[in-house]
Amino acid sequence: MAAAAHHPRMDPALTPEALAAQLRRPAGADAEATGARMNEANAAVNRRAIALLGVAAGQAVLEIGPGNGAFVPELLISTGSRYVGLDWSPEMVAAAQRRNAQAVAAGRARFVEGDAAALPFRDAAFDRVLSVNTLYF
Ligand SMILES: C[S@@+](CC[C@H](N)C(=O)[O-])C[C@H]1O[C@@H](n2cnc3c(N)ncnc32)[C@H](O)[C@@H]1O
Repeated sequence: MAAAAHHPRMDPALTPEALAAQLRRPAGADAEATGARMNEANAAVNRRAIALLGVAAGQAVLEIGPGNGAFVPELLISTGSRYVGLDWSPEMVAAAQRRNAQAVAAGRARFVEGDAAALPFRDAAFDRVLSVNTLYF
C-alpha cells in the first residue's frame, strides 16, 4: 500500500508490553507512530461512534482520549459546534493541536492535558461526550 510508506514506523523491537503501554499513553519517540497506527486501526469504530453521537448545530462536545485528534473535523461538521479533547499524553495533545490548528485558531477546538479520572470541567458543560478505545485503560 503506497500510503503506508509515509507513516512513521513503530519500533519493530517493541514488545507486546511496550506496545500496550504506548496505546494506553503514547509517549516519547514512539508516540507519533502510535498515533498514526491508532488512526488507521480505529477509523471505522470512530466514524461509527461519531455518527451515533449525532452532534447538532451549536452543541458542545467532549472527547476523552482523542489521541492525535484525527477525527475532530468530523465532529465539527455541524454549524457552530465546539469541541474539547482531554488526553493525558502531552505528545497526543500537541499532535492534536497541530493537526487541528485551524479549528483551534477559530476557537472551535481545544485540547487539554489531563486525566479522565479528574475531569477539569464544570458540570453540564457538554451536550455530547465521546470516548473510543479508552475505557479499559
Ligand atoms: C488506544 S488510544 C485511542 C485513541 C482514539 N480514541 C482512537 O480510538 O483511536 C487511547 C487514548 O486515550 C488516552 N487515555 C487513556 N487513559 C486516559 C485517561 N485516564 N485520561 C486521559 N486520557 C487517557 C491515551 O493517552 C490515548 O491517547
